[in-house]
Amino acid sequence: MIRFENVIKYFGNTKALSAIDLEIKHGEFISIVGLSGAGKSTLLKLVTGEERADEGRVLIDDIDIAKVKVSDLPYLRRKIGMVFQDIKLLPKRTAFENVAFAMEVSGHKRDRIEKEVPKILELVGLLHKKHNFPNEMSGGERQRIAIARSLAHRPALLMADEPTGNLDEVNAAEVLDLLLKINKLGTTVILATHASDLVNKIKKRVITIEGGRVVLEQERGRYKL
Ligand SMILES: Nc1ncnc2c1ncn2[C@@H]1O[C@H](COP(=O)(O)OP(=O)(O)OP(=O)(O)O)[C@@H](O)[C@H]1O
Ligand SMILES: [Mg+2]
Repeated sequence: MIRFENVIKYFGNTKALSAIDLEIKHGEFISIVGLSGAGKSTLLKLVTGEERADEGRVLIDDIDIAKVKVSDLPYLRRKIGMVFQDIKLLPKRTAFENVAFAMEVSGHKRDRIEKEVPKILELVGLLHKKHNFPNEMSGGERQRIAIARSLAHRPALLMADEPTGNLDEVNAAEVLDLLLKINKLGTTVILATHASDLVNKIKKRVITIEGGRVVLEQERGRYKL
């Protein structure tokens, strides 16, 4: 689904990514771990086309992102859902309306929205909170609503950039479980995080980056003895 071919990315004199070669298949769950500044977010931004590679190629379903016109990037992005550490829900809208709004923006009709939103809220386990506002929910619940929102346009790929960064251990584990469930239902998931202990537990593919380089690739996390 995604291929990085010898990708190099500079920000001024900073080499944020050097010689990244990576292939992510449809239906995979992959975690990108590394310290602050390692290049995790940059890697994700190259997939959405928010940043462009200085050398090498980034391909999504065999389409070279560098060759996609800026005006066509929205079409590419329809394949992708994004979740971030800082959860920016609309504060004056309920859980239902937050997800509905995302569907409106992607052009869905009202009757479709009325049918779809409860299904997505059910998937994230928060249908019972549909009339609640963000400030009436826990951090973990808010993040699960943000994930629901990112699924509103039914993306083939979900990318989560440090989605558990502001959460305690219990809420973080719930968010991770939800990402695993979404993956099981067929969505490719890329998780970028510092939380290597968390990803080691789930026994999925882990890529470790350090100073913009892949330093370790593990097929099933690390087994703690
Ligand atoms: N827009 C930018 N302008 C200049 N330098 C940048 C920019 N974005 C990232 N960098 C630099 O590129 C490197 C990689 O940054 P990146 O944000 O990808 O790291 P990260 O692994 O996501 O870190 P964190 O865990 O803190 O989010 C860092 O040295 C960072 O300072
Ligand atoms: Mg980052």
